[in-house]
Amino acid sequence: MIFLVVNFSMPKMTKFILGTFIVFVASGWQNAFAIHVSIYEPRVPKEILEEVQEIENPYPATEEQIEAGRKIYFGKGLCVTCHSKDGRGVIVPGHSPRNLTDAKWQEIRTDGELMWVLRNGSPGTGMPVRVGKVITEKEGWSVINFVRTFAGK
Ligand code: HEC
Repeated sequence: MIFLVVNFSMPKMTKFILGTFIVFVASGWQNAFAIHVSIYEPRVPKEILEEVQEIENPYPATEEQIEAGRKIYFGKGLCVTCHSKDGRGVIVPGHSPRNLTDAKWQEIRTDGELMWVLRNGSPGTGMPVRVGKVITEKEGWSVINFVRTFAGK
């Protein structure tokens, strides 16, 4: 890539400026990767990950449950303001909200992990605490049932 951009027939000064620019951009990218941990990495701390993963949603995903979750998502949970109507998430400076339609992410995460994030937020990101603050635990499980309907959309 660098060889394609910095042509050897260019004057020295141009090469120098281009080279500096490329190094700057490249190190910027590295920083970006360091801050934005892969979306597939668990958000729950390692020490408790296994037990949290095993916690099951006590409310089966019935139509009523999903409908109740939809109301929370678009209403008092304020989820829609960051995750958008279609679940893909709005573009904000810094760490982006999760794209809830990502099929691989949906498959990897258990409901227990999603509940942990709703209860604790995602530390170091804009994902705020929801359960216990703006919604109840039951409403949290409902909104998780609704979030599951975004899978692969
Ligand atoms: C102020 C913006 C904001 C609001 C409001 C918000 N989120 Fe998030 N959400 C985020 C961001 C940013 C992330 C990415 C966090 C990360 O990468 O760890 C995220 C991540 C998530 C995740 C992924 C967690 C994981 O383990 O990967 C889920 C699920 C989620 N949000 C659900 C919700 C639900 C449900 C609501 C409403 C009850 C909500 N969010 C409200 C910004 C928001």
